[in-house]
Amino acid sequence: MSNRDRTTVVILGAGKGGMAVLELLTLLPGVEIAGIADQDASAPALQYASQLGIPITQDLVSLISLSGINLIVNVTGDSHLDLLIAVHKQPETEVLGGSASKVLWDFVQHASQIQSQLFQTEKLAGMGTFASGIAHDINNPLYILLAFAENVLEETDVPTIHEQARSIIEAGKRIQGICQKITQYARSSKADYIAAVEVNEKIEEALNIARYATTLQDLSIVRRFGEKVEVLVNPGELFQVLVNLMTNAIHAMERRGTLTLSTCYENGVGKISIADTGSGIPIENLEKIFDPFFTTKPPGEGTGLGLYNVKAIIKKYRGELKVESEVGKGTTFIIELPRSLM
Ligand SMILES: Nc1ncnc2c1ncn2[C@@H]1O[C@H](COP(=O)(O)OP(=O)(O)O)[C@@H](O)[C@H]1O
Ligand SMILES: [Mg+2]
Repeated sequence: MSNRDRTTVVILGAGKGGMAVLELLTLLPGVEIAGIADQDASAPALQYASQLGIPITQDLVSLISLSGINLIVNVTGDSHLDLLIAVHKQPETEVLGGSASKVLWDFVQHASQIQSQLFQTEKLAGMGTFASGIAHDINNPLYILLAFAENVLEETDVPTIHEQARSIIEAGKRIQGICQKITQYARSSKADYIAAVEVNEKIEEALNIARYATTLQDLSIVRRFGEKVEVLVNPGELFQVLVNLMTNAIHAMERRGTLTLSTCYENGVGKISIADTGSGIPIENLEKIFDPFFTTKPPGEGTGLGLYNVKAIIKKYRGELKVESEVGKGTTFIIELPRSLM
């Protein structure tokens, strides 16, 4: 994108309104946020912005008077600022304030609600495709549990009864573990929370869920993990990104194949690659796969929102998402996320 297509914005006010505007603007490819200011150093959006590597300040005038700014968004609700802005801003800088910024704020809140509903909806819709995998996983311990329970009914020897009761408990715990995993995944992730996340661990957790995309046993998993690879993201969102990419990979392999999961560090950037030996993606589709609702799967099996959400999340954390694919050979998705955003 050339500079002319980019809009450079500064945000005044880092309370609720500033947070909502910040969250939405970071998702827009054409917008560059040059900074955010609030007199209150503990304002929530200041902390969030600094985690995203966006300049923050308590000195409103310094931000207002910056050159090269296309737009000042004033969400402080403070009418005294209007004069300050008028005096200090560069002549070419436009201002969005008063009721216009109130409308923007309302709109932004509405859009961010839709965005998080979209994430959640897509996650729950994806769960549908896991149903038979989950049932398959629960069936084994359930079978054991019922068989031992029937034995106990007939058994009179107390030590044997105890032995069988222990097996029943063990099988019950396995089922409990599966249920916990699933409810943990289905829960919506806490927004506005960023942490250094250990990638290899998250990959294992995600694999535990994505495995349900198939009941197939002859899927080989190859791990090429670098040491202690950490990236700064919302842990729940990274989890969803990984589940989505792995689920797609597993779906693309249909019968059998190899899923290769690699992680490493390169120049302060955490790199995750998810490679499958599946169908591959035809060149004419490569441009479209990130579009919302683009899917080649039959209704009920795909929403077409997986990669759209993956891309939005990676973008939010200043990361890159790349894809390499060859029809008949397989596909590799590569995620690059900064280890530190500052
Ligand atoms: N690993 C992959 N191998 C082959 N095709 C893929 C892969 N990942 C994604 N695709 C293609 O991209 C489309 C969009 O993926 P996605 O956004 O996750 O939606 P969905 O999985 O619901 O179809 C898929 O329908 C498929 O055609
Ligand atoms: Mg998908």
